[in-house]
Amino acid sequence: MDEPGVMPNSNRIRIFDTTLRDGEQSPGASLTSAEKIDIARQLARLGVDVIEAGFPAASPDDLEGVRRIAREVGTPDGPIICGLARTTKNDIDKAWEAVQDADKPRIHTFIATSDIHMEHKLRMTREQVVAKTREMVGYAASLCEDVEFSPEDGCRSDPDFLVEVLGVAIEAGATTLNIPDTVGYISPGEYYDLMRKLITETPGGDRVIWSVHCHDDLGLATANTLAGLMAGARQAEVTINGIGERAGNTSLEEIVMALRTRPTVYQLDTNIDTTQITRTSHMVSNYTGMVVQPNKAIVGTNAFSHEAGIHQDGLLKHQSTYEIMTPETVGLTQSNLVLGKHSGRHAFRVRLEDMGFELSDDELKQAFARFKELADKKKTITNADLEALIADEFYGPEEVFKMECLQVACGQAGMPTATIKLIGPDGQEQIAAALGTGPVDATYQAIDQIIAAPNTLVEYRVAAITEGIDALGEVTVRIRNEANGKRTFGGHGADTDIFVASAKAYIAAINRMLAFTGYADHEPEGEAATIHMVAQA
Ligand code: KIV
Ligand code: ZN
Repeated sequence: MDEPGVMPNSNRIRIFDTTLRDGEQSPGASLTSAEKIDIARQLARLGVDVIEAGFPAASPDDLEGVRRIAREVGTPDGPIICGLARTTKNDIDKAWEAVQDADKPRIHTFIATSDIHMEHKLRMTREQVVAKTREMVGYAASLCEDVEFSPEDGCRSDPDFLVEVLGVAIEAGATTLNIPDTVGYISPGEYYDLMRKLITETPGGDRVIWSVHCHDDLGLATANTLAGLMAGARQAEVTINGIGERAGNTSLEEIVMALRTRPTVYQLDTNIDTTQITRTSHMVSNYTGMVVQPNKAIVGTNAFSHEAGIHQDGLLKHQSTYEIMTPETVGLTQSNLVLGKHSGRHAFRVRLEDMGFELSDDELKQAFARFKELADKKKTITNADLEALIADEFYGPEEVFKMECLQVACGQAGMPTATIKLIGPDGQEQIAAALGTGPVDATYQAIDQIIAAPNTLVEYRVAAITEGIDALGEVTVRIRNEANGKRTFGGHGADTDIFVASAKAYIAAINRMLAFTGYADHEPEGEAATIHMVAQA
């Protein structure tokens, strides 16, 4: 572990993951605190050096979420746990309150330094910004020995002014200096030159770790981050799948695999266990409801598929003809067709352990029952199927409503109908039936009859997890809460029946929404199962 404030000589890049802070700022990426803990644990398994767990001053819930991660994931052999704070005493106190129980806590404080931001947003002069930096970095350093400072909109700031502010931050006790391209504006050459200037000209610059933080508005976040690392930065701020504000942040998997695949070019490496990349990517996508584009580098479903005949022919002759890294390196091992109907509990347990899942005996029993059900419908069960099964069974929002069963009638007669049975928060069974424009619409209308949580479906996607007619169908939805701030929530479901997967995904999104808004307007109508009927005119 590096000491804060000591510039290491090594060529190891610290991976600072901000999926749970900048990533969660993506429109629609709301996560419950239980989901944040799951993701933080997976990030630790992946081997990130720092987890930016949230912005504790944003709300008591955010503070509590960061505190839980600090306590449960910030163990002696775990990552640094970091909380973000503006340069105010209140924000810094809240960040410290949240991270102090971690074995290695960090406070990350920031203030804008570009003329545009200082004049229009902060309404502060350069002198005031410098004074605030000195005072608040000093205050953070009086609480925590590991302090990161960021000049927000750094890449549109006057470089000479940056040298002054950053010098003051170092004097006041900052141990990591991060240079954000807040609006995704800079080009790789410019970023390289800026980082070189700051590293060489800032007084005390040889005593701190320099960090890069890029946004992808012009599609240059990865290129800019690599340029900053080539210039001497030794920390990269990234998110899983590149999620984040607007067009997103630099994606972790792209940086890690670029460094790993081209060691002679970059001569830099990370501590990341790359075989955990695919699993982490799926978890973040499933929890946030933010689907990864199929052609996304490293983690897109097409990233390792070869369609053209010439490519397939070349690959069969030698893998390296068209593959610069193997799917196995990033944990994509779906060709391991090892489990089937006749596999026993022991083989099942061993396979899950190999994949890094730690389940209790009860959870294992539950998962094994699901596995047997699936194996009855599907001849071979791949790792991807197992991962979907475990995610479906154990990961996801707390279940306020749980699906008991679904029956759908559809075809060309034009009267798609769905009947659904849910178990509500009070344990009571409720049944509803509805007609819709199609079977999914009918299913969702029936669910709406029971739950009555006003929302608009803004995204619905269905994909097959593996190839073949018996593949598991994976559905991802996003709903917008019309009652409360128009926030959006994602849900995910997997099943061999896509209507069942669709219902699970929608219920998961509603459960996630209810975790944020609470559920008060449900009034059970007596002891017996309630039956609702709705017909679409
Ligand atoms: O993009 C940005 O400027 C940030 C800072 C808070 C580091 O996320
Ligand atoms: Zn950012």
